[in-house]
Amino acid sequence: MSTHLTPKVKEIRQDAPNLKTYVMEHNLRAKPGQFVMVWLPEVDEVPMSIGWQADGEFHMGIANAGDCTQKIHETVKEGDRLGIRGPFGKGFSLKEGCKKIVVLGGGCGTPPLLSLSQEARKKGIEVLAILGARSEDYLIYEKEFKSLGCEVKIATDDGSKGHKGFCTDLLEAELEKGGVDCVYTCGPEKMMVKVAQMAEDYGVDSEVSLERFMKCGFGICGQCCVDDSGLRVCKDGPVFDGKAALRFTEFGKYSRTSSGKIKE
Ligand code: FES
Repeated sequence: MSTHLTPKVKEIRQDAPNLKTYVMEHNLRAKPGQFVMVWLPEVDEVPMSIGWQADGEFHMGIANAGDCTQKIHETVKEGDRLGIRGPFGKGFSLKEGCKKIVVLGGGCGTPPLLSLSQEARKKGIEVLAILGARSEDYLIYEKEFKSLGCEVKIATDDGSKGHKGFCTDLLEAELEKGGVDCVYTCGPEKMMVKVAQMAEDYGVDSEVSLERFMKCGFGICGQCCVDDSGLRVCKDGPVFDGKAALRFTEFGKYSRTSSGKIKE
């Protein structure tokens, strides 16, 4: 069910050159992996994942990635209110008896994995967070994952921090060691394809969080249907089982614009 909210922006933090964290004053109590639609009057409405959640607040890590998010970065100030609908969608699932999980976040895709890690740690589940970014400046939420008691491993493209290379290199080493019950990922789709494929090869469950252009956000308009499944990212996702996602024709290959045109 859609809830319309106008929470106050309590704090704004510049956490990476392209990403600001907006601390919103509201008890959202979203399931990890769910999203909200953020409305900027006279500009647009965009889907946004939910990061850290605490009593009386929830965080959104908003990357400057288009007209609406750029306008949010430029115009929204602490004390302003934002139009929010949601939370929507199917989030991550923590399986019964699960003892250790790996969360793998690529750049701006990291926020929902922080929310998932909060829930996992509350249940006493061991969490390894593998965080990837183009360089150290673009790494987000390392401190927050550590504050939850997660082990953190880092990969950067330029080697300015942690492993020089892909976070999937670090995942493979972990899967090789064994003892991982499930892998969760959000980030660039080509990376998520690799993660889901790697998990399948090692016989480990995985879940991936997809991002698509959205209009209604709750399953009515058909804008976010995934080829060839017909599944709606907003309602049947955004989190999908990794093996199921590997069968989507468009996974890691293309998405669609607001008019339905293919965008690679
Ligand atoms: S955005 Fe309308 S069905 Fe998903």
